[in-house]
Amino acid sequence: MTLRVTVLGAGSIGIFVGGKLAAAGARATFVGRPRMLAEIGEHGLRLSDLDGGNDRVSQTAFATETEPESAVTADLVLITVKSAQTAAAAEQLVNRVRPGAVVISLQNGIGNDTVIREILPSCVVLAGMVGFNVVNHGSGHFHRGTEGVVAVSADPALERFVPLFARAGLPLDVHADLLPVQWAKLLLNLNNPINALSGRPLAEQLGARDYRRCLALAQAEALAVMRRARIHPARLTLVPPRLMVRVLGLPDALFTRLAAGVLAVDPQARSSMADDLALGRTTEIAWLSGEIVNLGTMVSMPTPVNARLVELVGVAERGDTRRWSGPELLAQLRAAKSGAVGADRPSRSDPVR
Ligand SMILES: NC(=O)c1ccc[n+]([C@@H]2O[C@H](COP(=O)([O-])OP(=O)(O)OC[C@H]3O[C@@H](n4cnc5c(N)ncnc54)[C@H](OP(=O)(O)O)[C@@H]3O)[C@@H](O)[C@H]2O)c1
Repeated sequence: MTLRVTVLGAGSIGIFVGGKLAAAGARATFVGRPRMLAEIGEHGLRLSDLDGGNDRVSQTAFATETEPESAVTADLVLITVKSAQTAAAAEQLVNRVRPGAVVISLQNGIGNDTVIREILPSCVVLAGMVGFNVVNHGSGHFHRGTEGVVAVSADPALERFVPLFARAGLPLDVHADLLPVQWAKLLLNLNNPINALSGRPLAEQLGARDYRRCLALAQAEALAVMRRARIHPARLTLVPPRLMVRVLGLPDALFTRLAAGVLAVDPQARSSMADDLALGRTTEIAWLSGEIVNLGTMVSMPTPVNARLVELVGVAERGDTRRWSGPELLAQLRAAKSGAVGADRPSRSDPVR
């Protein structure tokens, strides 16, 4: 039987994952903005990856719509909007999606699945996590720029979809409890604000020690509040989270040799937060560094480094196009950590580079 999949949020992740499922035989419908739907309607899809994969999906193999009408008959709904839009997207499914349908949140951050579950209590709502980066090259071409899996929380209702994802080359990594995986992904995603503020591709930014020191400061602070909150992040990389903080501070040559796998990143790949800033959209900073700040408040621990990242991204969201060098950003975060922040805090009147 052909499985019907509605992808709510036709963007980098939704189109890459949904396109792969369509290529594997699913009847996929993309729900998105008119501009994106026109683009994929005109060109079809090209789904490439850093391992040499290059799937073509013709326009006849998928449908598009601006409202999730197809959810009425969908077996599976993938929610792939940014976290700020989760509630609004789930509301659009009310009175459409049928009771018992499986809805998976393929989003970064913690708690998107809870938001969806509260709005769609009759559905089987599962948390998911996409471990790879996808770059939209335009004209329907989406490129997976890093390694990584699609992880999802376990549920018997998932079983009928497991073979489809395997055929699509995205075998599901099923976890009894996805929260430790989500917290571990959040630790990695603390690089998103640093990458976005740097204005550089991921490979170049991660190859520079001062940016990695910024990430190490943000991760060390996050790990401290997580420990206080008794949250134990899963191990998603070869190096466990606590050791990662040390590895990030190594000199460039040593880091590059040790982290050859970690740096298997497409030279053009950037964080999706960088895309958001470039397009003048609100970012997911509140769901990443902001989540650490909230957790710090809950366990009564200060989180000045992540709070500073929230502030700096906020300034960028309001139109500051400054590209921070590694030493400049590191100085900001070290000053925040030592309580000296304020003296050289950028303001709207600072010269915008
Ligand atoms: N990109 C990556 O490499 C990557 C990797 C791992 C995880 N993730 C996570 O995956 C999630 C999706 O990220 P993404 O980069 O794929 O986002 P994206 O490219 O911005 O795609 C989302 C698309 O959905 C549209 N949209 C929002 N609400 C909608 C609605 N109600 N109806 C129809 N369309 C709607 C957005 O339009 P507007 O812009 O107009 O709102 C946007 O075009 C995020 O949580 C992100 O952190 C991303």
